[in-house]
Amino acid sequence: MKKYLTLVNKENKIKDNYYKNITKINTKLIDNTPCQIEEKTYHAYLELKKYLKTKNIEIALASAYRTIEEQQKIYEDSKEQYGLEYTEQYVASPGKSEHHTGLAIDLELVTKNSDEEEIFKKIEKCLPQFGFILRYPKGKEQYTGYSYEPWHIRYVGEIPALIMKKNNWILEEYLKKFSAVIYINKEKGMTSFDVVNKISNIFGISKVGHTGTLDPLAEGVLIVTIGQATKIAELLTAEDKEYVAGVLLGVETDTLDITGQVVKSKPVDLSKDLEKVINSFQKTYLQEVPIYSAVKVNGKKLYEYARENKEVQLPKKEVTIKKIKLLSSDNDTFMIKTLVTKGCYIRSLIRDIGLALDTYATMTTLTRTKQGKIDIKKTNTIEEIINKKATLHTIDEVLDFPVIQVDEDLEKKIKNGQKLPNQYQIKNKVIFKNKKNEILGIYKVEQDKLRVWKNF
Ligand code: DAL
Ligand code: ZN
Repeated sequence: MKKYLTLVNKENKIKDNYYKNITKINTKLIDNTPCQIEEKTYHAYLELKKYLKTKNIEIALASAYRTIEEQQKIYEDSKEQYGLEYTEQYVASPGKSEHHTGLAIDLELVTKNSDEEEIFKKIEKCLPQFGFILRYPKGKEQYTGYSYEPWHIRYVGEIPALIMKKNNWILEEYLKKFSAVIYINKEKGMTSFDVVNKISNIFGISKVGHTGTLDPLAEGVLIVTIGQATKIAELLTAEDKEYVAGVLLGVETDTLDITGQVVKSKPVDLSKDLEKVINSFQKTYLQEVPIYSAVKVNGKKLYEYARENKEVQLPKKEVTIKKIKLLSSDNDTFMIKTLVTKGCYIRSLIRDIGLALDTYATMTTLTRTKQGKIDIKKTNTIEEIINKKATLHTIDEVLDFPVIQVDEDLEKKIKNGQKLPNQYQIKNKVIFKNKKNEILGIYKVEQDKLRVWKNF
């Protein structure tokens, strides 16, 4: 869970150091008493206030950050005045109030001459575009544990707020249920981990994964899974991948790409039939894993051996080059397009092509143009995600398995991971959904029965 999605409720107390680590703004409540608010929350509030003013609604702050002691006093005072039952519905016990985060504020209407309820409804409608949610909405009392509080708004960031609104989710539901697959077009210079981190911050979700690493030098299709969708990452990783790569002949570097140190060189014989040699690589063969890779030998990653200058026997793995084609060539450089199986290193393939040409070769550029059925044309940049122009894909859309919607009786069995008879003539895997269109599990065929493969 990320900073702006921090969950504080009846079950989750504020973490001890939370407030210490956030940037605060000092301002004033409507009655002129000083108060503090988290920085981004404050700026979002000012934007909201400005916008509402254009709609003739004037808001001010009734409450913002509260210390544990302040919440204790509010709680005790309310108990004395209204009794325990009422207090439990409207006031959080000390340590369990969102006001401890600095991300929650209570709004007060400055002009009170018309129907307050109507005005609060109007305010609720425009909260998400400013990154706010109504934390205790009408109709969700049994999930939030609090009565409807039209004044208590919480900053979560624009994208999570819009998704929550679209799905009619409260924060707890978003954190539990939000799941998506995004086809990213990774730009050069970023690591796959950088991409995962960015996505994680944009959606406020910690559980984010990627399928098939792309080095900083490489660009193109990087499939990112969020939330529950991380469970299908292994299926996507196993897919065939298509690449376009640039090659320089005559040199080999330690990393097998142009970012490395040249370790070998040899003049290039340009009379060789380049196309013929390249075409001869359409085969299954044992490929030596590059030293600059995360493949482990005796529990240690190969690149760690390289960094420590330690000798190591490089393992060989069977790979299949399904298709390979020379796209263009110019003196000692050329471009190829190739479709390969899981685990194939393009830099190793290029090294092997170099050797077959009786020289050395180094990868200069690499673009992943396809992973499984996902073409680079279907990808989005990180910028597009931030600007809400990206497509969020669902698990069943990405997988080509049949989807079966089940009744409540079967839903219970699937949730318990029970084996089922294969009455649906499933051949490989099947996705089970409930009537609300939520994924319950993915089952696979095993000896005429359906057995749980992933539970959601
Ligand atoms: N009114 C909300 C629940 C609080 O006391 O934090
Ligand atoms: Zn409040």
